[in-house]
Amino acid sequence: NKLFRPIPGSSVSEEGKRTHKVTVVGVGNVGMACAQTILTQELCDELALVDVVEEKLKGEMLDLQHAAAFLPRAKILADTDYRVTADSDICIVTAGARQQEGQSRLALVEKNVSLFKKIIPELMKHSPNTILLVISNPVDALTYVAYKLSGLPPNRVIGAGTNLDSSRFRWLLADHLDVNAQNVHGYIVGEHGDSSVPLWSSVSVGGVPIISYLKQKHIDYSPDTLAELHRMVVDGAYEVIKLKGYTSWAIGYSVASLVKSVLRNQRRIHPVSVCSQGFHGIEDEVCLSLPAVIGRAGIVSVLDSPLTDEEKEQLQTSAKTLALIQNKLDM
Ligand code: NAI
Ligand code: 2OP
Repeated sequence: NKLFRPIPGSSVSEEGKRTHKVTVVGVGNVGMACAQTILTQELCDELALVDVVEEKLKGEMLDLQHAAAFLPRAKILADTDYRVTADSDICIVTAGARQQEGQSRLALVEKNVSLFKKIIPELMKHSPNTILLVISNPVDALTYVAYKLSGLPPNRVIGAGTNLDSSRFRWLLADHLDVNAQNVHGYIVGEHGDSSVPLWSSVSVGGVPIISYLKQKHIDYSPDTLAELHRMVVDGAYEVIKLKGYTSWAIGYSVASLVKSVLRNQRRIHPVSVCSQGFHGIEDEVCLSLPAVIGRAGIVSVLDSPLTDEEKEQLQTSAKTLALIQNKLDM
């Protein structure tokens, strides 16, 4: 199949495995939004929470445990000691610094890389066959760091990447057209953040390719209109951070959708941060988002979407931005 190129090492099949243990590292706004969406969607039987702030950790654990009568049954554990995470199917890393108002995600890199140097080896010690799901920012650089520090094959290290940006994109289009966002298919790829790339050439609504439809109907659309829509996607997180201080609900749902695709072997296509060297002329060894098939083995394959020359060029620029950051990392 020419559309799907396998990622090396992705041949491992874990179908039939029964335990569903999920670990969330970092019980801040994002970690708890992930924990809560995962529990309500009945995606695990065991949830382990880890943080460095003992009281907050215990408080969050008890608060969730007190909802037992209203939730699907799950054992909820919490500890500062990583032994609590043993044999996790998925480890979700949300620990670390977050952006202050107006700050770029890339500004967090040094601080969060130093945390990852402590967190990733601990997770690997107790769950050597886990799938790592990286959320902390800058998510693409940290996905690369997690891949290198863990020694896992590339299919088992997934960055939440532009799964969230793509939802923002689909929501804006759906709102404009007054249809359900689930009937709008469109991907934002590249960096989760300022250099992300909208794949306009493949956006479709109800199966109709949007750009050719507009052309065919002689409906006026200008490159400026499309650029403005993408700008709204990029600015979305900055706006929420300015208004409430952080983002949490949308990333919580984004993560739950990824966990569901893995643990239920859904083989749905999500734009996620993966090792992208060799795709679309990307020369550097960087992690950035491309649409990928997600199942029980993690990243089953990467969709080799046809891109226009402009999209390819923008993606390569995004890769260069990330390579510059990565090359400066103290690993
Ligand atoms: P927060 O400040 O509410 O929580 C961070 C948590 O990490 C705190 O509970 C803190 O005690 C914990 N922590 C710090 N060092 C730790 C360590 N060594 N081990 C374990 N836990 C540790 O921050 P928030 O809002 O939850 O954001 C977390 C991260 O998620 C940030 O980097 C943020 O930028 C990122 N994020 C990523 C998104 C994405 O789409 N990839 C979306 C939203 C946020
Ligand atoms: C988000 O896009 C801040 O990366 C975070 O919501």
